[in-house]
Order: sequence, then C-alpha cells, then structure tokens
Amino acid sequence: MEELSRRNLLRASGAAAAVGTVGMAAPTWAWSPAGSLAGANAGTAAQTDPKHVWDDEADTVVRALFERGEVARVNDLLKKWVKNSDPLPAGLPADLVAFLEKARKLPSWADEKKLADAVTFNTKRGLYLGVLYGFVSGMVSTVIPQEALAVYYSKGGYNLKDRISKTAKFGYDIGSLNAYKPGGEMIVTAVKTRLAHAGVRYLLPQSHTWTGRAPEDVPISQADLLVTWHSLPTLVMRMLNDWKVPIPAKESEGFLHSWQVSGYMLGLREEYIPKSWAAAEAQAKIVFDPILRPTPEGLKLADALLDLGKQIDGTLLTRGVLEALTRYMLGEQIASWLKLTRQPLWDTLLKVAWRPFVAVREGILPLPFMPAMAWAFDEILRQFVLLYMSEFRKIQIQIPVVNNPA
Ligand code: HEM
Repeated sequence: MEELSRRNLLRASGAAAAVGTVGMAAPTWAWSPAGSLAGANAGTAAQTDPKHVWDDEADTVVRALFERGEVARVNDLLKKWVKNSDPLPAGLPADLVAFLEKARKLPSWADEKKLADAVTFNTKRGLYLGVLYGFVSGMVSTVIPQEALAVYYSKGGYNLKDRISKTAKFGYDIGSLNAYKPGGEMIVTAVKTRLAHAGVRYLLPQSHTWTGRAPEDVPISQADLLVTWHSLPTLVMRMLNDWKVPIPAKESEGFLHSWQVSGYMLGLREEYIPKSWAAAEAQAKIVFDPILRPTPEGLKLADALLDLGKQIDGTLLTRGVLEALTRYMLGEQIASWLKLTRQPLWDTLLKVAWRPFVAVREGILPLPFMPAMAWAFDEILRQFVLLYMSEFRKIQIQIPVVNNPA
C-alpha cells in the first residue's frame, strides 16, 4: 500500500490540474484542522490533504492476509465475532489479532451520555431515519463518483441494491439502544467494515475495469470516507432542519457524537473528523457538495435502488414514488442527473403536503391541518422502517475476495 500511496501522491500532485476531473479538484486542503476533533494543535498531519491518506494500519494487515492466502479462512473465523464484548475467535493470525484488539477500542473521548442522547434522537426520529438513511443517503451515494465507481467495480457490484442497503443499515444501527455497549454489535460492524474497505483497497487497483476510470489509484481515501460520512449524518441533519423538525441541542449533539465515534471506528483520523455541526457544514462545503456528479456506474446504482420495492407485494414504495421522493428531497439538479421521470401526482403531493405533514407530526400544527393524503406519507415512512427491520436484518460483513467481473 505504501508503494501505491506514494505513486498516487506523485500522480495526484502532477496531474490534478491537468486532469481537471471533478473530485480531484484543489490539491490543497482548505479545511482548518481547528474544526477537527484533534484540534488546531494536531500538527502538520492535519494539514495533509485527506485525498492522499488512506488507512495504513488496516491496509498493511489485510494486504498480508491476501499475500498469505488467508482471507477466506479469516472471513470464516470472523463470523463468530458478533457482539462488542465477544473475545476474538481462536485461530486468527497474530498480526490481525494485534490490529483488531487495538481497532476495537473506543476512543478516549467517547462519551456514554452523548451516546445515550443519540439513542433518544434515534428513537424519536426513527421514522424519518428509515427513509433518510435507507433511501436518501443511498440515492446521494449514486452521485458520489468515487463511491459509485468503487461499489460498482467491487464484488458488491453484483448486487447493487444489497450493497447500498448495507451502508444504510450501518447508519440506522449506529443509534440503536446498545450500539457501542458490550451487548451491542456496532464496534464489530465498524471494525469489520474497516477490514472490508482495506480489502477493496487491495483488490480494486487490480481490476482492469476500475483503474483509469477513477481519479485515484487507490480507492477509499480519508477524503472519500469523509464524503460518504457527510452523505449520512450531515445530509440527515440538513434534511431534518429543512423540514423544520425541532431537535433539542443535546440530541443533535448526541447524534453528531455517535457519528464521530463511528467515523473513528471506521479508521477516520481525528484530525479530519469535524468537532461540531458548524465544522461539519464547513467541511461538507469543501469535500462533499462540490464533488457530486453523475457517472454511468452511478446511474446503474440509482436504477437498482429505485426498484427497491419491486419484490414487495402491495408496497407503496413503487418506482414512481421513489422517483418523486428523490426529486423532492434531493432537488432538481440530482433528479435531472439521474434522469428521473416526473410523477405529476406524487411530485405535487410532496410539494404541497410534506411540510404540513411533518409540522402536524411534530405537534407544531394542530391535527386539522393534516393534509388529507398525508396518511400515505406515514405509510411510506413506516414501510421504509419495516424494510430495514426485516430484509436487511442480517448483515454479514466480510473482506471481499474478488472484484466485480463485469
Ligand atoms: C463495504 C459502510 C465509505 C466503498 C462497506 C460495508 C459497509 C460500509 C457497512 C460492508 C457491506 C458489505 O459487506 O457488503 C460504509 C460507511 C462509510 C463507507 C459507513 C463512510 C462513513 C465508503 C467509501 C467507499 C466505500 C468512501 C468508496 C469510495 C465500499 C465498497 C465496499 C464497502 C466498495 C465493499 C463492497 C463489496 O464489494 O463487498 N461499506 N462505507 N465505502 N464500501 Fe463502504
């Protein structure tokens, strides 16, 4: 990985301006480390552009597993590691054990009270979070070029809907009751995801179809991780604020905290993790908003996601409804990039009735203001939650062993 990273650094510094590819924009890192968890005293590391930083610790261990032909055996053993408090399964290679024992430790700044506030937030806002994580973040990921390319050309590209759903499930579970407690599973899920990402970093550069299409030689840099991070909590918070959902400061802070912890457990460095919502917004304006654009691979991902409800009898989550939800929630620009069809009935209904519906649900407007058709919104939200509770319940995260042969 060091070899590839160095190569990428050289390539990036020389070619960034010439290529002019979106996502590879400015070679300098404009975000101030003062806004990070590590703070202003993080040293020069904090100034390093996250496009040129990956996850050396995880990458070194996973590369060694591949080179020793141990990935399948390790994947098998790791199936038995489920709960945060579970001991590591016997028989794992020593270098992996050393990595996992370190990686499973929560950061010193993890705050139980704030994590409890995140649970309150999730319990109260769970109905909205189903559609936000389960669908809106997923649709946005289809216009994040690096992610769409990595997902499409990796093994997950076989089953796009399933792949996107798992990221959504990750988000939804972060705020579950005992996520980071001994009986919970979030530490294991995050660390396994970190390993899966290291596997992707090892495999994708060997894919003839991926190389050359992406503006980076090695996928899932710290910058890429930040982009996807913003597509989850930052976007969720933007939406809820936009819909005028009242959120007590403690809960909003708790929600952010749960995502700071999750970012850390996924291998994000403290000097890149925003310390506040204001810092997150400032960072999103640099790393997230400007890089969104469509790609042929993203369009295929979006197409698969819009068929989310296809196998469910009698569902309201039809393609037309999902197209209208995307247009309403993510706006005309993204709707046109994704070539979405206009849905006169649902487009109008959402425009006219969504905000009053939220206001009544939140007790801001009295019941008589509930639009007549708003029962359908309630049902849509409920069906998203059900979908995530049932279909995507069992998440078995493994180090991928092959790329998408497509
Ligand atoms: C795998 C979550 C960032 C690309 C996974 C998995 C999860 C996940 C839960 C395991 C799913 C599975 O086993 O199929 C997240 C979260 C992220 C993040 C929460 C950030 C906060 C990224 C980024 C990229 C990416 C930035 C690419 C630029 C992938 C790929 C896989 C994967 C290609 C492997 C799929 C496969 O081939 O099996 N991620 N991810 N992820 N992720 Fe991420």
